[in-house]
Amino acid sequence: MEKLKQIMTCAAVAALLPLGLHAGDGVKAEFLGGNNTLVRVTGEGRYLLLPVQENRDDAKINVLVDNETVKTLYVRLAGTGTDYTVPLDLSPYKGKKVSLLIETPEGHGQGLHECKSEVKDEIWFRTMSLGDTYDTTNREKYRPAYHHTPLYGWMNDPNGMFFKDGVWHLYYQHNPYGSKWQNMTWGHSTSRDLVNWEHHRDAIEPDGIGSIFSGSCAIDTENSAGFGKNTVVAMYTSAARTQQQSLAWSTDGGMTFHKYDGNPTLTLDSEARDPNMFRNPETGEWTLVLAHALDHEMLIFTSPDMKEWTLQSAFGKGLGSQEGVWECPDLFELPVPGGKNSKWVLICNINPGGPFGGSAAQYFIGDFDGHKFTADTDKDGKVPTKWMDYGKDHYATVSWSDAPDNRRVVIGWMSNWEYAADVPTHQYRSANTLPREMRLFRGSDGDLYLASEPASELLALRGDAVAESGKKTLGATPVKYTLPASTEGLCEITASFDAGRKGVFEITLGNAAGEHVTMKYNASDRTMTFDRTEAGVSDFSERFPAVTVAPTRENNGKVELRIFVDRSSVELFGNGGRFAMTNLVFPTSPYLDLSVSAPSGKVKLNSLKVYSIK
Ligand code: FRU
Repeated sequence: MEKLKQIMTCAAVAALLPLGLHAGDGVKAEFLGGNNTLVRVTGEGRYLLLPVQENRDDAKINVLVDNETVKTLYVRLAGTGTDYTVPLDLSPYKGKKVSLLIETPEGHGQGLHECKSEVKDEIWFRTMSLGDTYDTTNREKYRPAYHHTPLYGWMNDPNGMFFKDGVWHLYYQHNPYGSKWQNMTWGHSTSRDLVNWEHHRDAIEPDGIGSIFSGSCAIDTENSAGFGKNTVVAMYTSAARTQQQSLAWSTDGGMTFHKYDGNPTLTLDSEARDPNMFRNPETGEWTLVLAHALDHEMLIFTSPDMKEWTLQSAFGKGLGSQEGVWECPDLFELPVPGGKNSKWVLICNINPGGPFGGSAAQYFIGDFDGHKFTADTDKDGKVPTKWMDYGKDHYATVSWSDAPDNRRVVIGWMSNWEYAADVPTHQYRSANTLPREMRLFRGSDGDLYLASEPASELLALRGDAVAESGKKTLGATPVKYTLPASTEGLCEITASFDAGRKGVFEITLGNAAGEHVTMKYNASDRTMTFDRTEAGVSDFSERFPAVTVAPTRENNGKVELRIFVDRSSVELFGNGGRFAMTNLVFPTSPYLDLSVSAPSGKVKLNSLKVYSIK
C-alpha cells in the first residue's frame, strides 16, 4: 500500500510537469529518459557554466563537437543547491555545433518506482548558462595569502617542475570541474621568485588513453627524444583501468604541450605510476624512477631516448613504511657536509602509513651507480625509515629539475589523503607547502639526514617587525604578545632558545575564541611537539585533530625556529630545517595572541622577532 501510494504520488507529479525541456540563455536541455539528457549549446559565450553540488555523485558528460566526442568529464551536477559553478571552456570549438550528452548517476534519473528526483527539476538542468567570463574572485576565508593554490578547483600532487630561463614552472594534479579529486589534468603556474605565482591554462588534459596522473619534466638539451633541441619533455601516467606511462613535449618553454603519437611508451603488468625522469650526469643516460605502487617499491629504468626503457633494478621491498602504496618518487644527489663526497636521496611518498596517519614523505639516503640504488644502513645494520616532515600535511613532495646554482628545491602538497576532500573550502581545495631547499646534515646519532629549509627567496615576504624581544629568561608565567589585527594573523616568527639539557619551552598561537596551537620543545628527549587538537574548525574529519612529534636531532638544547603562519597553515622549521613540521589549521578568527613560556623551569630566550607578511 505504501509503495502504491509512492508510485501514485510520483506519477501525479510527473504528469503535472512539462516534458523535460529547458530552453533559454543559449542552452537547451532535453531529458531523453533513463539517465540521459542532451544539452545543446545554441547561443554564444566562451564558457558553459556548470553548477556543482559537492555531496552529489558525478554525472558523466561527453562533450560532442559536430557529433564527435571530444572530451569526457565527470561533474557533481547540482540537484537541490549550488555550492559553486565550474567553467567548461567552449572557445576551442567556436563556430562548431557543441552539445553535451549527460549521464546522470543512478538515483537522479526519472525512476518512477523509487520516486527519485526528476532530472528536469534539478538545478543544473534549469540553470546551466553561457558566459564570457568566469569569476575567480577569492571568497574563501581560508585561502592562503602566500602559498600556491589553484585559481579554482581541486589540487593534489605537484608535478613536472623545472626551472628554465629564470622561470620556476609548477604543474599540479588539477580538477578543473570541481573541488574534489576527479578529471586529473596538469594545471600550470609559474613564478620568477618562488613567492608570487601566476596561473596559466591547464597544460595537459585527459585523452583516450586516460586521465593525466603525476609525473615529471626534463629539458632535452641534446634532442635525444627527437622532439627538438631544448624541448621540455613531460612524462606522466595515463590512468584508466591500467596505468601506463606517456610523453608530451613543449617547444614554447612548457606553456603548451603536444602528446607523443607513440603513447603509451611504457606498460607494466601491475600498477605503476608517477614517472620521475632525469638525465644522470654521471652516465649520460635518461633515468626513470617509477612507483610500483602496490608492490611497495620503486623501479629504476634507463633509456637512450626517453621512449625505450630498460628495467635495471627495484628498490624498497620490505624497507621503510610498507603500510600504504608507494607513490611520487624522486632521486637526486647532494653533497655530504664537510667532505668531497656526495650521496643520493630517494624520496618515496607513501599513503597511508605516515608517522601520524595517512600520507607522508619518507626518504632513503644511499648510493646510486646509475642502475641500482643501495640504501645506507645505520649502526645496527638496518635501513632506517626517515621522514622529510613531522606534520600531518606534507605529501607528494618532489623537486624542481634544472634549478640554478645546483640547488635542490622541493615543494609538497600541503594536505593529507585522510581528509583532503573535506577541508572547509569550496571554490578551490588544497595548497602547496612553501618551497624548501634540500641539504644533507649529520644528526647527533652520526647518521645522515635531509634538511628542509625555507627557500631563501621567502625572506622577501618579511614585512615590519610587529613583536620583538631581546634576551630574556623564560619561566612558567607566559610572556605575551598581541599581533596587530592588520597582520590578519599572517606572520613569520623567528626565535632562538637555549633550553640546556632538560629545559622545556612552549610557543602558543591563539585567538579570541580560545582556539590555539601549541608547539613545545623538550630537551630531555630532544623532541618538538605540535598540538592542533584545539586549533579551530575540525568537525569535517575525526582524523584531523592531531598531536605530531619531531625528533630535533641536536644534543645541546639550542633551538632556532622559523614559523610561517598563513590563513590555514603553520609550518615550523628548526635549526636550519633539521626538523620541519607542516600542519593545516582552520581557526575561526586569526591567531593574534602569541605567548612563550617555560612551564617547568628556566629557559633562555635569546631573541624573538615576529614579521608581518608583505
Ligand atoms: C598521489 C597520487 C599519485 C597519482 C595522483 C593522482 O597523491 O595518488 O600516485 O599519480 O595522486 O591524482
